[in-house]
Amino acid sequence: MRILAFHNLKGGVGKTAAAVNIAYLAAQAGIPTLLWDLDPQGAASWYLGDDPDVSGEKVSRLIKGKTPVGRLIHDTPYDKLDLIPAHSSFRNLDVKLAQGEGDGALKSWLDPLSEDYGLVILDCPPSLSHLAEQVLATADQVFVPTIPTWLSANSWQQLHDFMKEKKLKPAKLHPFLSLVDRRKNLHRQALDGEVFELKRKMRAYIPYASDIERMGETRQPVPVMAPRSAAAHAYRLLWQEMRRIARL
Ligand SMILES: Nc1ncnc2c1ncn2[C@@H]1O[C@H](COP(=O)(O)OP(=O)(O)O)[C@@H](O)[C@H]1O
Ligand SMILES: [Mg+2]
Repeated sequence: MRILAFHNLKGGVGKTAAAVNIAYLAAQAGIPTLLWDLDPQGAASWYLGDDPDVSGEKVSRLIKGKTPVGRLIHDTPYDKLDLIPAHSSFRNLDVKLAQGEGDGALKSWLDPLSEDYGLVILDCPPSLSHLAEQVLATADQVFVPTIPTWLSANSWQQLHDFMKEKKLKPAKLHPFLSLVDRRKNLHRQALDGEVFELKRKMRAYIPYASDIERMGETRQPVPVMAPRSAAAHAYRLLWQEMRRIARL
């Protein structure tokens, strides 16, 4: 089982949109896939037509081992794709991790899933929290959607430095350009690698596309809602490249 994460210190860069579309394409390629929505805002759950789970104190029970992670898994409308929806109690997870409860928790929750899934995708909140640290430690590869602006290039560097500082193998970070508008000079230069030094930048990129924006309305992955669109094509190329990187 491979564990892939989408992360960026910034919000609004297309992490969740990519996580949902890539999870869908992986499942479609026949890989039993689980998408875990770790962001309490629950956007990934929303995009897959699910709602954030509000029942009970899930996180404390998970940490104490009283609830097996399998109990949190929901079906989705799509074959081979399951979801752990966002849960409001995940807001407390970070506090618990900071207090030293649940060291290595994420890994221990994910391990038993390897019998049922070939791939787990983690959609993260934008931070360098304790949870993020566990995600960055546990994931085999971390994909970093990056908007071509100078500030985004800085936050990429911060993430890279954080990985180094925590001895977490920065080589597993793979940035790709997101929300790209080819009419903008800076964006074209970023695509050509003339500006922003992004180590291991992927070839695939995600253009700015209204079909991606519409996911919030249709609550469907782009390849379902607009299979022939440029956006769907871009996600397919991204998936092909991710698949090679992750050896899936
Ligand atoms: N490539 C894109 N083109 C146009 N809109 C996008 C694109 N990617 C994301 N969006 C929109 O931008 C907002 C933030 O995207 P999201 O994937 O939730 O970002 P993040 O998870 O990084 O916060 C959403 O409203 C989404 O619909
Ligand atoms: Mg998000």
